[in-house]
This record gives sequence, C-alpha cells and structure tokens, in this order.
Amino acid sequence: MSDAGEEWQVARRRKGASRKPKSLQVCPGSAGCQEQLDVRKTVKRIADTVSELRCEDFWKDWREQLWAAGSAQHPKPPVHGDTEGPVDQLEKAREDRPCQQLGCVCFGLGSFSSCASARYQLAILLLLLDAAQIPLEDCSVYDPAFSTGEIDVLRDLGLTVLTENEEGKRLATKPTLFYMMHCGKALYNNLLWKNWSIQRLPLMIIIGNGFSGMRDRSIEREFKRDYSYISQAVDVCAERKLPCPSHLIDVFSDTALITFPTSDLNRLPQSTWEEPPEPQYQHCPDLEITLKTVN
Ligand SMILES: C[S@@+](CC[C@H](N)C(=O)[O-])C[C@H]1O[C@@H](n2cnc3c(N)ncnc32)[C@H](O)[C@@H]1O
Repeated sequence: MSDAGEEWQVARRRKGASRKPKSLQVCPGSAGCQEQLDVRKTVKRIADTVSELRCEDFWKDWREQLWAAGSAQHPKPPVHGDTEGPVDQLEKAREDRPCQQLGCVCFGLGSFSSCASARYQLAILLLLLDAAQIPLEDCSVYDPAFSTGEIDVLRDLGLTVLTENEEGKRLATKPTLFYMMHCGKALYNNLLWKNWSIQRLPLMIIIGNGFSGMRDRSIEREFKRDYSYISQAVDVCAERKLPCPSHLIDVFSDTALITFPTSDLNRLPQSTWEEPPEPQYQHCPDLEITLKTVN
C-alpha cells in the first residue's frame, strides 16, 4: 500500500520489531475532515485498493457467500427428485448470478480519505457491487462524517450520495444489500424496525456486524429493552460469518452476511408484527449514531 502522508496506515514491521501482525487502525470518531481533497488522486488510491483486495482469498469467499444469498432470494422452482448437495447448490448459485435486481445501501462507511479502514471497506463495497452486477448509481451511500471532498469522490465513482440523515430507517422496496460496517447498533435496529414485516425482511441482505456478537457482548436485559428488533431478529435470521485475514482484522472483524428466511420469521409470535413501535432509545446516553437535526 503506498499511503505516505495518510493519517491511518498499515503499520510495517521494523527490523527486530515484534512479529505479531499489525493491523489497520479503526477510524477515529465521526468528524469528517473538511480539507481540500484531490479527487483524482483519491479515486486512484481507491482503485489501487480494489486491485489489491480483488486477489485476496477472503474476498473470493465473500463473493461466493453473496452469490449464494442472492440466489437464495430468488430460488428456482425445485425439480422433482432434486437431491443436490451444498457444493452443487454453490455451483448453481454461481450460474444464477447476477443476483437479480439487487439494490444497495451503504451506511456508516466512515471517512475514507483519512482512514484506511474505511477505504478498504469502500473497496470491498465496489467489489460487491461488481460481483452482484449492481449498477453503481443503484448504490446509495450516507455517512454524516463524509466531507464535501469525499462526497465529490463518491459521485465521481458513480455512487448515489444521500443528502438526508435517515438514521438507518430505509425501507427496502426491492431486494437490497445493506452494507453497514461497524455501525452503531441503533442503525441496525432502526433498519429492522422500518422493515419489520414478514414481507420486507426477506428482501434484505445485510453485510455488517453479526447480531449474535452484539447480543453476546451486551447485558441481556438492556439489549432486549434498547435494541428489541435486533434482539428478536437474532434468533430467526441466518448469519453467515465472513472470513477476515489477520492483517485486516480491524477493518473486517466480526463481519457477517445476514438474511431473513421467511420460514424462520414465521417462528416469531404473530403479535410482533402488529404495529411495531418506533425505537426511542431514551435509556441510551451513548447512542453511537448521529441523529438527524430537527429544525
Ligand atoms: C464506528 S464508525 C465505523 C466507520 C467505518 N465503517 C469503520 O469500520 O472504521 C461508525 C460510522 O457510522 C457513522 N454514522 C453515525 N450515524 C450515522 C447515520 N445516522 N447514518 C449513517 N452513518 C452514520 C459515523 O459517522 C461513523 O463513520
């Protein structure tokens, strides 16, 4: 990686230094850097990162998982006497690509011009769009931390930059990949609330932090009270852990591909679907997400 002058860099091992693999740093806070950005240079740096990641084995694994999830959303009618195993299904998933009509929404990418983690995540987003054959303009991105220069870069790449803070409350009107790397729990909870029905949830594929990890790291009573939609979804979603190489541990750690099979959603009590209340978070002093400003 040639990132001289960048705030966050891959730490290279000095002679005699510990052999423990160093990893990329996580992004600092959410304050976007408003310094002038060289759009052309930044786009080139992102393209270089895409080329670097394209060859990584872990990326190939992610791609397979996405294809499998995408084709599971549009299964072919079963052929009578069909007894194929998982390997055949994966082959079939490959044949079925592109994932039909997938759109994409990315929340919480972070400040990718100053933070290498966010740039690596952006590079994987671009690879995911390519693998799923989602047109760049069908991918909407939003992070309150984006600087005006970063917004220019994202538009230059062809992505659609949302201008309003939806607090994650985005309705999936068609099959949609939500890419939400290391986002605050409230963002996931809001997204689930907005799509809380047996019809909508199966439209979503989420690539982000695993829900089971969130639950395991939380105090059960508080998790159920504050993040009730994640807390209910965790038992009925399909969570496939996505691999991550040790040198990119801080960038892609704890990442899962999450889907919502209808048959599993049916296990939740009928009452959960009736007028689900909008999350309020009155007990959460440290919400981890930026709320929209009320004028
Ligand atoms: C912990 S950081 C993760 C940044 C980066 N993805 C990473 O892994 O290093 C959480 C990100 O969520 C963003 N965020 C906060 N509120 C948001 C909102 N309402 N909508 C979208 N993104 C939001 C923050 O600005 C921040 O960039």
